[in-house]
Amino acid sequence: MTTGDMSFDIVAKRDRARVGVFHLPHGDVETPIFMPVGTQGTIKGLLPRQVAETSCRILLCNTYHLGHRPGADVVKRLGGVHKMMDWKYNILTDSGGFQMVSLGKLMQVTENAVEFNSPHTNERMVLTPEHSIGIQKDLGSDIMMQLDHVVPTVSDDSEFREPMLRSVRWLERCNNVHTNRDTQALFPIIQGGLDPALRQECVEKMVPYAKVGIAIGGLSGGEAKDGFCATVNFSCQQLEPYSHLPRYVMGVGWQTDMVICALSGADMFDCVYPTRTARFGTALVFEGGTNGELHLSRNEFVYDFKPIEECDCHTCKTYTRAFLHSVISKDTLSCHMLTVHNIHHQLELMRRLRKAIKEDNIVPFLKTFLAGQFGSVA
Ligand code: GUN
Ligand code: ZN
Repeated sequence: MTTGDMSFDIVAKRDRARVGVFHLPHGDVETPIFMPVGTQGTIKGLLPRQVAETSCRILLCNTYHLGHRPGADVVKRLGGVHKMMDWKYNILTDSGGFQMVSLGKLMQVTENAVEFNSPHTNERMVLTPEHSIGIQKDLGSDIMMQLDHVVPTVSDDSEFREPMLRSVRWLERCNNVHTNRDTQALFPIIQGGLDPALRQECVEKMVPYAKVGIAIGGLSGGEAKDGFCATVNFSCQQLEPYSHLPRYVMGVGWQTDMVICALSGADMFDCVYPTRTARFGTALVFEGGTNGELHLSRNEFVYDFKPIEECDCHTCKTYTRAFLHSVISKDTLSCHMLTVHNIHHQLELMRRLRKAIKEDNIVPFLKTFLAGQFGSVA
């Protein structure tokens, strides 16, 4: 199915897992894919051309942050977020609703809008579905997300149905003001906590609005793994009849989680984890780490003259663990070096996963991958 130039071709499928090519206004993206997060319009510490060198072809920005600074009108006058950043590939913008969750008590949801006190100016801000789409139009992202009412699964709230239904109503309002359908896609976000019946109801109500793709939200807030996996798996299963829609599991970026979700039929992921952890001196690795992480500030790396891992990124081709250890916390350059590697690593994991699906090698891939992350498995 196509909207403007946007469509999704499945090139290989094994059980639920699929490899696809997502045709977007700023170039093709192979799925499953990880999208790094450039909250404020920058991946911290990297020039957009350095991001492109990692082979990244889609990244994520936040409506809330860019709408606040520099402001949607300024971004618009700068020619949109692609031009502002000098990024010629795709951009997905989150709607701003989820960022409110992190503001906790400062937030209040009414039928009309998410309301909150800006932590920057302490002014009362009101973000309606129409306003969120208006900002995302000014930003000019390739994929816009609907404004949704996110209730974290670990919160004290036991009520998930009303927020799910509100998200459906807000989707309709977003859809009503979504005009430039040839250049920007609008993704619905399935909510409903960990309850399969609510997820199913939400899928049924939202699918009619999903022209290009759809997201699974409300997860990755620290819920137990079994509930997380079951919910992603169930939601993907409900979406099987709509296989032409790429499925984006929001806020998921741990290596193992992405692999498990992709095997359940998910196609797109985003998370601040690889870039944030880089700034704390952690490099992601396929082998020899602790749960896939090397903590390079540790003294065991003083005389370790190997690269982080066998990897094509500029950092691994140029520097040793010993050198990285010596500059961590002394120079922000180490943040740059580790961020380059960590994005590259996540994209390499996606490449290996796609290859395993294409070549029907999922079990050997999983054995090698899990043994590398957690020590040997049977
Ligand atoms: N990021 C992670 N989870 C979510 C979600 O449920 N909704 C939105 N809008 N963004 C998210
Ligand atoms: Zn590397």
